Amino acid sequence: MHPQLSSHPAHGSATDRRLNSMLRHIDPSIASSSLSSMDSQISASPTSGFHGDSVFAHVAQAPEDSILGVTVAYNKDPSPIKLNLGVGAYRTEEGKPVVLNVVRKAEQLLVNDRSRVKEYLPIVGLADFNKLSAKLIFGADSPAIQENRVTTVQCLSGTGSLRVGAEFLGRHYHERTIYIPQPTWGNHPKIFNLGGLSVKYYRYYDPATRGLHFQGLLEDLGSAPTGAIVLLHACAHNPTGVDPTLEQWAQIRQLMRSKGLLPFFDSAYQGFASGSLDADAQSVRMFVADGGECLVAQSYAKNMGLYGERVGALSIVCKNADVASRVESQLKLVIRPMFSNPPIHGASIVATILKDMNMYDEWTVELKAMADRIISMRHKLFEALRAKDTPGDWSHIIKQIGMFTFTGLNSEQVAFMTKEYHIYMTSDGRISMAGLSSKTVPHLADAIHAAVTRVR
Ligand SMILES: Cc1ncc(COP(=O)(O)O)c(C=O)c1O
Repeated sequence: MHPQLSSHPAHGSATDRRLNSMLRHIDPSIASSSLSSMDSQISASPTSGFHGDSVFAHVAQAPEDSILGVTVAYNKDPSPIKLNLGVGAYRTEEGKPVVLNVVRKAEQLLVNDRSRVKEYLPIVGLADFNKLSAKLIFGADSPAIQENRVTTVQCLSGTGSLRVGAEFLGRHYHERTIYIPQPTWGNHPKIFNLGGLSVKYYRYYDPATRGLHFQGLLEDLGSAPTGAIVLLHACAHNPTGVDPTLEQWAQIRQLMRSKGLLPFFDSAYQGFASGSLDADAQSVRMFVADGGECLVAQSYAKNMGLYGERVGALSIVCKNADVASRVESQLKLVIRPMFSNPPIHGASIVATILKDMNMYDEWTVELKAMADRIISMRHKLFEALRAKDTPGDWSHIIKQIGMFTFTGLNSEQVAFMTKEYHIYMTSDGRISMAGLSSKTVPHLADAIHAAVTRVR
């Protein structure tokens, strides 16, 4: 018998009783004596893992994720004044996570509906959810939808949608290079590499102006090979908070279409940036309006606060309905061995809200309130730094858009703020404005002031 089971009589007998009762539950004909007769058949072999080192002893400790690791460090800090501005999740003025009222309402309706079951969804997910998600991003009157040349599949939030899109492109698209902005969300290169694509960067952010490096962007995309894939943040670029203007988007579109570059939009913040779902979808709609093809990954993590529900969609806009249908058939072959079919609950919440006019309106009001609170935090922080006469031009705080401000603080200054002020953020100086409140702005302003005056 296993030494651990036999060495302590009390432990051994309790375990025996549990195993016996489990076995009897599975097969009532098994008598209590059967376990002891089985003991003789179970013995530790040299490879069973009972003796010696773990078979995984060689596995190295991996570093924490650069974004989620910030929260790990924050959780370990006992300081009462600690502040987590690392992870991109919305917080109230009281610093609490929030579930939207409209989401609670939708959940209540779902729970009360006794006809609902927990059967598997189809491979492509909930049909209503897919249709409504396409309408949300492309617009209710989108010709691409009317012409049935959009295929939409439900995936595991934004990340899963990007991952499925990457894998599809890796299998079926002739050009395997994807250009992503420098800098971008840290998960992008890993997702695309796993999909079999090779990643190159195009210039995006200019540290000198803390704005868009538009000339660099045009030059880099202009010299990309014909057909290359280009990742574009639909709005609220992460981590910089810098978006092209509509005129600049028009030029980017023109250049990309003239070179046959394939746009892959990442839309993780629709409605969350400006407070308007339509305004934040304009870049995507501009590309769809010209009749060309593109991919769009959508996430409901931020704009509906459904972070942990993992609700998202991948849409591929094709030239015609026939191609779209074949593309969908291949997307199923990507999804089936990856996660088989997506989860039902979050998508049902989204579909319930999107198809009911009143609930949809209620959502837009709550969404705008979140966006407005973030914008007001930008103004408060900017004013606080101005009042302290903190060296430097901080106007980018109010010019940038969305969840994040790319402060321009360097990694030494970030480390100083964490050590001295217990403020946690990614080492590139990105702060989540959604994690700030009127109460914590002065503390952050003090920390920034000290960092830029004391650490160079
Ligand atoms: C730019 C960008 N894309 C995609 C995502 C994916 O988020 P999720 O998988 O939670 O929807 C995020 C989340 O922070 C993001 O910032």
